[in-house]
Amino acid sequence: MKYGYFSENGKEYIITNPNTPRPWGNFLTNEKYCAVISQTAGGYSFYKDSKTERMLYWIGQNLHQGRPGRYVFVQEEGTKKTFSISWEPIRAKYDSFECRVGFGYQTIRTKANGLEGQTTYFVPMDEPCEIWLVKVKNTSKKTKKINVFGYLEWFIGSADYITFYNIAILWNRVHFDKDLQSIFARKTAFYEEFNIKNNPYILFFSTNEKVYGWDCHKANFLGRGNTCQNPKGVFEGKCTQSICDGEEGVGVLQTKFTLKPGQEKEFVFILGQTEGKRNAERIIKKFRDIKAAKNALEQTKAYWAEALSPIKIETPDRDFDNIINNWVKYQLYICNMWSRSPSFYHEGQGGRGLRDSCQDSESILSVNPNLARAKMLKVASLTRRDGTMAPGWSDTYGPYPNRPFKDHPTWLTPSIAAYVRETGDKDILFEEVPWLKDRWIEGGTKIDINWVGGAVEDGKGTLFDHLLAQLNFTFNDVSVHGLPRVGEADWNDALDMAGRRQIGESVWLAIALVRSLKNLAELAEIIGKNDIKEDLLKKAQIMSDRINESGWDGRWYLAGYNDDLIPFGSSKNKEGKIFLNSQSWAVLADIVPKERLQTMLDSVEKYLTGTHGMALLAPAYTVFDPGLGRIAMFSQGTKENAAVFCHAQTFMVAAYAKLGMADIAYREMCKIMPNKQKNMELYKAEPYVYAEYLIGPDHPYAYGEGAYTWLTGTAGWTFMVATEWILGARREFDGLRIDPCIPSKWKKCKITRPFRGAIYEIEVENPNNVQHGVKSVEVDGEKIKGNLIKPHSDGKIHKVKVILG
Ligand code: GLC
Repeated sequence: MKYGYFSENGKEYIITNPNTPRPWGNFLTNEKYCAVISQTAGGYSFYKDSKTERMLYWIGQNLHQGRPGRYVFVQEEGTKKTFSISWEPIRAKYDSFECRVGFGYQTIRTKANGLEGQTTYFVPMDEPCEIWLVKVKNTSKKTKKINVFGYLEWFIGSADYITFYNIAILWNRVHFDKDLQSIFARKTAFYEEFNIKNNPYILFFSTNEKVYGWDCHKANFLGRGNTCQNPKGVFEGKCTQSICDGEEGVGVLQTKFTLKPGQEKEFVFILGQTEGKRNAERIIKKFRDIKAAKNALEQTKAYWAEALSPIKIETPDRDFDNIINNWVKYQLYICNMWSRSPSFYHEGQGGRGLRDSCQDSESILSVNPNLARAKMLKVASLTRRDGTMAPGWSDTYGPYPNRPFKDHPTWLTPSIAAYVRETGDKDILFEEVPWLKDRWIEGGTKIDINWVGGAVEDGKGTLFDHLLAQLNFTFNDVSVHGLPRVGEADWNDALDMAGRRQIGESVWLAIALVRSLKNLAELAEIIGKNDIKEDLLKKAQIMSDRINESGWDGRWYLAGYNDDLIPFGSSKNKEGKIFLNSQSWAVLADIVPKERLQTMLDSVEKYLTGTHGMALLAPAYTVFDPGLGRIAMFSQGTKENAAVFCHAQTFMVAAYAKLGMADIAYREMCKIMPNKQKNMELYKAEPYVYAEYLIGPDHPYAYGEGAYTWLTGTAGWTFMVATEWILGARREFDGLRIDPCIPSKWKKCKITRPFRGAIYEIEVENPNNVQHGVKSVEVDGEKIKGNLIKPHSDGKIHKVKVILG
């Protein structure tokens, strides 16, 4: 079944059937305020942090229902005719439905009952609020009296309250303010374990139309036992003017007007959260001016058009072009803004994880180096003097309490190295960055509640010293085979029991460490620290030798050893015999001896590669293994238990591209590309953004189903692989390396890319159908020696012609 299609220029996805297999989401956000919204306006909003400041009600089970959300109900007075502009939640019969998923906006239009309703939802770039721009038109031949209700369900506060929901609603205060003709909602105070604080936040819901009625009390508006699917207030055409103290709250604003045939009415609802009622009032007044609201919409569209404009590719594959030029960039921005916590799938841990932030910021470097720089320095400030790191941070409560993820110290170095390669700005290495100090509670245990008030500093040091401390920590934090301890997890979060006793080791982490040590050695060299460079290279060699000694299983690299020194990812195991990441990263870190490479690649092809992509491991675990952890709890083929984990698959694609194996790299990329999915009843997820995983081959019935869309490292790695490796316009310390690695059937392709203050329009020709290998490069009509373009930094456009062969 077909649910929609891309607009001609690819920049909108137009959903024509609202009943998609799952909520198909979009993110409307300005990094302070975020609305997660589906094609039927389901979803929730939050301010600054999806966990602590969740404004609207949403829990995991709603993935199936796609409700509740931000609804606009239309009712014809004196009749029983009612519909919701977003189809949900009333699901009335409609004449036509369309949802335009755009960058920063979502326009939903439904025709029903001789009326046409349209709502454009968006978030202005400069205020913590969202605007619903509503139009209702009378398309019939007779005059109609219309009631319109804006509707939402308040959650207010921390997602943790879900476990004691009926207590937490006792703190609700939802009132209608007659002077401001708006609803205001708040909880009396913040509640965290051991810590109750004054709550400065206020949530608001308003409109520029005359308010005829309102409700703040859920049961009053919906009617006893009803849900938003059968709201009594809407069917009866009237509100009850309720307030809500200590019960479940809603925001309902009713307006009414008469429409002659052909006549239409346009107005706004404004929903937001901010500090202080004055500020709320200011925002309400600003956007009650419908012209200001429409301007804000244009500004939001312009913002995203500009943000997504750097880097353009043109290849023989239109799907590939569209996903790289448009959608993956938007997805990557959303990942950079919100990391991995808010979506329809995630229940909302809030905050931003360290590992993900490093990869997201590295991936967006060529598009927005300033954003990347700020984020990388933020991550650096999570480092303690001993090189360990807090695992992430939240904008409302500061660094995460310290769960020791052993891989974290290895992630920032490659990102900083990429930053220097992209920008040439080696001064960043001398930037003074705070060291993080742990807080302790009496008795000497580390504090394990949220650190209200942000990080505690322990003086400052240079960024380079931070990186050095991180890698030295991991290099020294080794176990029996001299490989780094796996602790509570490596890249694979679900290996959470393999090293609890601090004996288990991660082969993947050892490989990642080697890659980082080599990167840091290069950084040391460019700032003249040659002793340190030599030391780092020595350490890289020592670790590579240990990996090749104790981490090689015969036909592939192991994943690690658990606390009982039982190998995992080994031919000796019954399940989980081979893990993808050790193989891909061995190539990325350049540690594979020549004679082992083909054997290892053959094993990947034989055991991990299938019709829907590459499994993270094989075969899946069917029996729980307490020596590994939750990886063996997931149903086989889901999440880290042998799904086609798109992020990891893209590591392998990067490895293939590094080896010059373009045909296979491209073949695997196509398998997980969302806009190449043909069978939507199987795939189920959005066709315009990457999923975290496709269910793997060992699942009993759902092999190929997409899940956990939007927030995944796949976006960033896909973008890097496509631009830096496939199209091959690759940043290096001394300039831009031109080294395409393209499918042999492509005769030509093109990439336009900014680099250090100039723009390069690079056209690649492939007369002999090779996969890689540059025969000649011309820059502005002149042949250059080799394939490295020295930075022009002259603000001009330079034309580059590349012949492969
Ligand atoms: C999720 C996490 C990522 C982790 C991966 C594997 O995608 O966001 O940090 O590496 O799962 O566990």
